[in-house]
Amino acid sequence: MPATVVVGAQWGDEGKGKIVDYCAQNAEVIVRFNGGSNAGHTVLVGEELFRFHLIPSGTIRREVLNIVGNGVVVDPSVLLEEIEELKGRGYPVDNLKISERAHMVMPYHRILDGLEEGLKGSLKAGTTMRGIGPCYEDKAARIGLRMGDLTDEGVLRERLDHLVPLKQRLIEAYGGNEVLSEESLLDQCLEYSRQFSAYITDTSLLLHQSLEDGKRVLFEGAQGTHLDIDHGIYPFGTSSNCVTGAAAVGSGVGIRHMEEVIGVVKAFTSRVGTGPFPAELSGSHASYLRDKSLGEYGTTTGRPRRVGWLDLVMLRYSARVNSLDYLAVTKLDVLAGLDPVKVCVEYEFDGQILRHFPANMNVFARCTPVFEELNGWKDISEDTWKEAVKAGYEEFPGEMREYLDFLAKESGVPVGIASVGPGREATMDMRS
Ligand code: IMP
Repeated sequence: MPATVVVGAQWGDEGKGKIVDYCAQNAEVIVRFNGGSNAGHTVLVGEELFRFHLIPSGTIRREVLNIVGNGVVVDPSVLLEEIEELKGRGYPVDNLKISERAHMVMPYHRILDGLEEGLKGSLKAGTTMRGIGPCYEDKAARIGLRMGDLTDEGVLRERLDHLVPLKQRLIEAYGGNEVLSEESLLDQCLEYSRQFSAYITDTSLLLHQSLEDGKRVLFEGAQGTHLDIDHGIYPFGTSSNCVTGAAAVGSGVGIRHMEEVIGVVKAFTSRVGTGPFPAELSGSHASYLRDKSLGEYGTTTGRPRRVGWLDLVMLRYSARVNSLDYLAVTKLDVLAGLDPVKVCVEYEFDGQILRHFPANMNVFARCTPVFEELNGWKDISEDTWKEAVKAGYEEFPGEMREYLDFLAKESGVPVGIASVGPGREATMDMRS
């Protein structure tokens, strides 16, 4: 490698935080390139549990340079909280840089997120209410504020002169009663300017130099392929690009550097938010998976995740749009104990069989899953899983290996990493 990209192959929450943390062992630079504080990455290091929303997962590795790229929308209040928390836990956070091109989530974005959701009716995506959509709207409309603007009071004042009345009119038109104050927004920004000045820089240049120096760079995707604004289940996804291509755009380096692409896929499927979900489970199987799994409640929202069987139609699509080199399959220990396990291999739509993911959401909404049944594997203790990892792949339950072979064959992507627990030592790496 000089550069590896880790992306979510499903609807987010695939366990990317853990896989990024594992891959970070060989990385010298880690870059987040999309999304914002809507993301929630959980990392377990020894006995210590970390939950990140904005900060790249590698910040806990002191020797690694961590970059928040231009494709991320930064809520300074959330970032500051995370920095303070890490400092309180003994991490100096002197290894973080933030792109001056990254857009800022302002308080009015959060207000508008809530108001817009309330008015959207059946178009409601069940957002995380973190202001993500409205912030990317401003970016595209070219009226956003960027982290680099924090360094210039004159620019801030001029922008806010225009933005505050504009946003106030929107809030009122949407039926909100919040009153914006230009002075307090400006004061807040000036305070952020003091807090963040050491971190804000041209991260594209920094990255380019790192790559030129042969440093190993890891691109950490947030959310997942099926939430991508272009390639996901529009309009129920998020507002950023979450696929491999976004690693280049959202960090300011060319695509030639990306040498290895890992698609993280949970052994089953989960979803926070609204929209169709053909392989969705309910009843005892759903509670089994949700209750057994550390974190089948949204890291950001605390909402219970909807869960279902693994969907290979979705996975084949992810393999295609991301150029996946490897699958990293997570939570195989959670799926253990269910027998048989089902896998959705195709959809049925109006009497036709679909093997490829439909672009049209009205079609997707009417698809029913075609399942294949495979043998399940026995539930074993955390320690037994770790012993199996130490002993080698052949020591994993045979049915589980058959499951992984099936995923690889059906998706056309080899399984590079198999994860059987939240910790680093519960990770089997089979990449060549
Ligand atoms: P937003 O990104 O907050 O605008 O939310 C849009 C949709 O994406 C909602 O259905 C959210 O639940 C979903 N979403 C956003 N971020 C994540 C994530 O990190 N994991 C899972 N779902 C997410």
